Amino acid sequence: MNQSRSPFDGTFVVFLAVVGFVIGEGVATDLAGQLASLAFGGHHVVPGGVGTGATVFLRLWSHLGDPKLAWGPRARVFLPGPVAIWTVLAATELLLVGIAVVAFRMVRRAQRSLGGSSGGGTKVGRAEVERRMGRKAVERHTAALYGNDAAADREPLALGVDISTGARLFARSEDYILALGVPRVGKGEGFVIPGVLRHKGPAVVTATRHDTYMDTAGVRSRLGPVYVFDPQDLVPGAEKLRWNPVKGCEVPQVAILRARGFAGFAGVGQAIDGGGDYWEQVAASVIRCYLHAAALEGLGVDRLLTWSRRPGASDPVRILSSNPNAARGWSEDLAASTRVEPRHRDSIWATVRRAFDCFADPKVLEATRVDHATFDAAAFLERRGTIYLMGSPGAQHSVAPIVAALIEDIVDEARRQAADSASRRLESGLLLMLDECANIAPLGDLPKLVAELGGLGITTAVILQSVASARTVWGEAGERALRDLANITLVWGGQKDVGFLTEISRLAGDHDEQVETTTVGSSGKVSSWTVRRTAVLPIEDIANLAQHHAVVVSSHLRPRIAHLRPWRRDRRLVALVEAAPNIPTGTVPHG
Ligand SMILES: Nc1ncnc2c1ncn2[C@@H]1O[C@H](COP(=O)(O)OP(=O)(O)OP(=O)(O)O)[C@@H](O)[C@H]1O
Ligand SMILES: [Mg+2]
Repeated sequence: MNQSRSPFDGTFVVFLAVVGFVIGEGVATDLAGQLASLAFGGHHVVPGGVGTGATVFLRLWSHLGDPKLAWGPRARVFLPGPVAIWTVLAATELLLVGIAVVAFRMVRRAQRSLGGSSGGGTKVGRAEVERRMGRKAVERHTAALYGNDAAADREPLALGVDISTGARLFARSEDYILALGVPRVGKGEGFVIPGVLRHKGPAVVTATRHDTYMDTAGVRSRLGPVYVFDPQDLVPGAEKLRWNPVKGCEVPQVAILRARGFAGFAGVGQAIDGGGDYWEQVAASVIRCYLHAAALEGLGVDRLLTWSRRPGASDPVRILSSNPNAARGWSEDLAASTRVEPRHRDSIWATVRRAFDCFADPKVLEATRVDHATFDAAAFLERRGTIYLMGSPGAQHSVAPIVAALIEDIVDEARRQAADSASRRLESGLLLMLDECANIAPLGDLPKLVAELGGLGITTAVILQSVASARTVWGEAGERALRDLANITLVWGGQKDVGFLTEISRLAGDHDEQVETTTVGSSGKVSSWTVRRTAVLPIEDIANLAQHHAVVVSSHLRPRIAHLRPWRRDRRLVALVEAAPNIPTGTVPHG
């Protein structure tokens, strides 16, 4: 029978405690006698020792009124009265308790470093964990980038409590965090909601259910304006933001940016930047020309739908050639693409139709119908706004493209503000909390974007239910990039991709484990200890983590297990939510 355990376990610890108690009390009582005599009695060393001290300690209980009687006759003559002896005894007992606490902590640390399996037992102590991922470390990092005032004005994103050392873990403001957990495992309650509640800068929050909005909007509304983009009415009652993706496209760069998002959903996103094959590039240029033309004439999204259904429509070419503000050469680009062979033309326009397919959903189309400027990304960032981007889990082909376009818009504005600031970073500390990212915010170039955002001072959290969902949206290379680029990966229990779990287990490394082998023979049980090399975090442990626990893989520390407490069990957060106004209605500034 093999039992894996540390030599500091169970009965050995009890044995150590009993021996320690007897010796400790012997020393403490003897010391008390000496001190009492030297300070208050005959000012003379009394005869004693550890053994004598232990005997005196046991006899004390029969002489509570006059403790000196517990000592031998030769010692008694030097000892003072009861009050002085009891005072000195109490002081030495306190000293003993202090020493015991320190010793207990040292034993616990030794236990951990010898591989207690709780908490990804690397040999890193609490001080070391805090030095690398603690609040102070993160604040120092922020202060180095933005100055002390900015550091005091920010709240780093919490990653739970390291269960092996008790240290609280935090992300740096530049980190890209990938969070993976099957449904209902506690991602929302333990990470997304508390993160949004505590964040002090502007925040973009995506969601497929109303709970994140309901729990955080009140608190966030105290900080700045709250916007809700929710074409499917997932949060009834809230005033909804309408957003016309055509607005702004009168500027050619904006048209290119938006076209990239929509083309991404048609599978030809790279063609905007000159990638993809020739016909994909043509389709992508039609998309940007349409957006530009519609914007120049103040036309709505429904006109884009009409044009996309009619290859060779003359209106957009006419607008681009006659409008004095049109980008030079775009009308020729568009005209040329209508003059190709019919079969090529059909395939180009099939792509264009796919790009604008999201507007075929009447609710989405309705959410884009707006005459005034509804969302000003610059004001949103400056006024520490919060935007909730909502869509049902099946919204990939309706709400998601427009959500992606909105996020691209905000990121683009953030880029501009970062370029203008002294630190070349966004001073306001934007948080992109992309919950249910694969469903609601499948930005085509997310793998590229996450690599860039940290440098702009944006904290990005991409929350997914599984590795496979990332593969479906971004392909194998995109999924790999999303995983490889993460500064911090949080993995809750329930993941079933063995390859992925094995990678994390390997990153946590191995450790030596003491294994007790018990053999039952004719002469009874015989035990022997051997050392075995085992994984610190076996894959079965990662796959079967308790609720609200996640493995934290970071570039600063070996993987460890953290407890991400649901926000409802945090009294400070509950008080914060209760003190906030009920449910705010969406704020729509009229431009
Ligand atoms: N308002 C609530 N009151 C009590 N328990 C709740 C509440 N909301 C969620 N829970 C519980 O908290 C647990 C975690 O929910 P949470 O929303 O954090 O999961 P999740 O990991 O985000 O899942 P999903 O991927 O489905 O969004 C669930 O077991 C759920 O039943
Ligand atoms: Mg959730």
